[in-house]
Amino acid sequence: MNPPLKNDRFLRALRREPVDTTPVWVMRQAGRYLPEYRATRERAGSFMGLAQNPEFACEVTLQPLQRFDLDAAILFSDILTIPDAMGLGLSFAQGEGPQFAHPLRSATDIARLAVPDMDGELRYVMDAVRLIRRELAGRVPLIGFAGSPWTLACYMVEGSGSRDFATLKAMCWNEPALAHQLLDVLACSVSAYLAAQAAAGAQALMVFDTWGGLLGPAPFREFSLRYMAQIVAALKNDAHARELPVILFSKGANAHLAEMADSGCAALGVDWTVDLADARRAVGGKVALQGNLDPAILRAGPEVIRREARAVLDSYGPHPGHVFNLGHGITPEVDPGHVRVLVDEVHTYGRALRGA
Ligand code: CP3
Repeated sequence: MNPPLKNDRFLRALRREPVDTTPVWVMRQAGRYLPEYRATRERAGSFMGLAQNPEFACEVTLQPLQRFDLDAAILFSDILTIPDAMGLGLSFAQGEGPQFAHPLRSATDIARLAVPDMDGELRYVMDAVRLIRRELAGRVPLIGFAGSPWTLACYMVEGSGSRDFATLKAMCWNEPALAHQLLDVLACSVSAYLAAQAAAGAQALMVFDTWGGLLGPAPFREFSLRYMAQIVAALKNDAHARELPVILFSKGANAHLAEMADSGCAALGVDWTVDLADARRAVGGKVALQGNLDPAILRAGPEVIRREARAVLDSYGPHPGHVFNLGHGITPEVDPGHVRVLVDEVHTYGRALRGA
């Protein structure tokens, strides 16, 4: 049995309940900007060596919480564990992006894909969730996560990172049935993966759709949002996941917030290209919002960081339903001291905003 939560601000905000101050966590909070992360990664030998070892994964998940007053922990892993478990052979060269040894090249490659075994190839992820939950001892909630089917497919078809993921886009126009076949097996896999994380102890679930913003409105609906909505619906039918809030984050897709708010999710992540006041109007109080400071602001000095953090808090206002975050992941060159400035300012000003 896990002990009761000592800090439930994050979960309360996701449920749009009143909170004493605005909860805050940072995308990629366990990462290369922390010297202790770099040291553990060195010991692990590689990124996958780190992610696949539950003790290492637990250690780096907790590192940012030892430094900063964060209101949530996020499982240390990667969105590309699913394609890796499907046999695509994932690796990360030091300082470079992901690479698949066996990218999808044909209809036969796609027909061969099957939902991975959550107690087999992906058991290391569930073991990490169980261990982190135990080590957190109720301090803050643990977020589980996965990539969206669209974003996973981008990497699986391209074989690596890309500026435009034109290979998958071409498939959507030339062979839409094949693209849907791929997205469907991914939606089933992500649903099973998030349900297994919920069973292992995750307390909120987030879907990262990093490349949804590459699509125009109709293709976004057809190839990205539809499959995320399918995942949300599947989780609502799962005994462990049904109570957990789901956060959908489509980067660069602020034009679609209203539609996304109808997916059944609890919250939407937003990048920094939209004002939170406008985003709040777009979703009409149906969901909470998570975001949206430009990560580049963490390269500025403390006074600028404080001012810009307050601007984000002011744009949302004192209403319930805001989780403070960056609009995308923190970058490696950020001074960890700047993260402390940010987290503390969010809590201080978040209290003032509520007149406490
Ligand atoms: O937020 C957290 O602290 C949890 C850990 C986490 C990682 N990746 C660890 C990681 C999460 C939530 C992710 C998600 C992820 N992975 C996304 C979606 C979010 C986003 O940033 O858009 C994507 C697109 C990936 C795929 C991926 N993994 C890329 C493109 C890269 C290389 C780019 C980079 O930042 O180095 C990774 C590697 C990766 N995943 C690192 C970390 C800490 C850096 C690897 C290293 O230590 O060398």
